[in-house]
Amino acid sequence: MKPNHIAIIMDGNGRWAENCGKGRKFGHQKGAKSAREVVRYIGSLGIEYLTLYAFSTENWGRPIKEVNLLMSLFIETLDLEITDLNDNNVKIKFIGDRSSLKDSLVKKIEKAEILTTTNQGLKLSVALAYGGRWDIINAAKNILKKIKKSEVNPSDLDEKLFSSSLQLGGNPDPDLLIRTGGERRISNFLLWNIAYTELYFDDVLWPEFSKNNLDQAIEFYKERKRRYGKNV
Ligand code: IPE
Ligand code: IPE
Ligand code: MG
Repeated sequence: MKPNHIAIIMDGNGRWAENCGKGRKFGHQKGAKSAREVVRYIGSLGIEYLTLYAFSTENWGRPIKEVNLLMSLFIETLDLEITDLNDNNVKIKFIGDRSSLKDSLVKKIEKAEILTTTNQGLKLSVALAYGGRWDIINAAKNILKKIKKSEVNPSDLDEKLFSSSLQLGGNPDPDLLIRTGGERRISNFLLWNIAYTELYFDDVLWPEFSKNNLDQAIEFYKERKRRYGKNV
């Protein structure tokens, strides 16, 4: 069976640019193009959910010049792609700490979400200023608020309620997590949601990630036997 939800840590833009003898900006620009191709291809495969890691809470620690460049690129890419995404029936949602983003970017994000809210095609979540630990703490805070207002009874707190309070809310957990760029780590991506996700690490740098690389990842997934701790 093909995966229903794919999550991707899009890593390696900087190294790719360096290999080309260019600045990091060049890598991030080419990385945005890779993301665009992957969204289209995954949509065409009939996969229902795609979650892309675009900027982590820890990425705020990069030099201000690179952070500003990335923020401008997010605005630019959204402006460029939103009509096409909407025409392709993609429902877009952003996950992460919006309070840390500039107002102008938050406005664009909200507009894109509203525009595509009734779309029935690919459910695309873009993780921006996202951290798995932040997500868990944020969910806990939201539940505490509800307890304070007596909307939730502490004894009602279970995995289902907690999951629904996380950024990916009603989405099923990812079936397959792909990381490009050669590192074998999670870098604070969807910590709660990947408890039973199949992990696939590819050495290819994100700007060079192609349909062929994605097909290989899906093949890897199809060969897995998912046991969920059971004995079968
Ligand atoms: C991924 O590429 C993009 C972001 C984290 C925003 P990097 O910028 O991390 O590229 P490398 O890992 O340094 O090559
Ligand atoms: C992970 O890549 C974050 C994104 C792809 C957005 P990083 O380049 O930030 O991760 P580390 O620093 O190698 O762990
Ligand atoms: Mg990196």
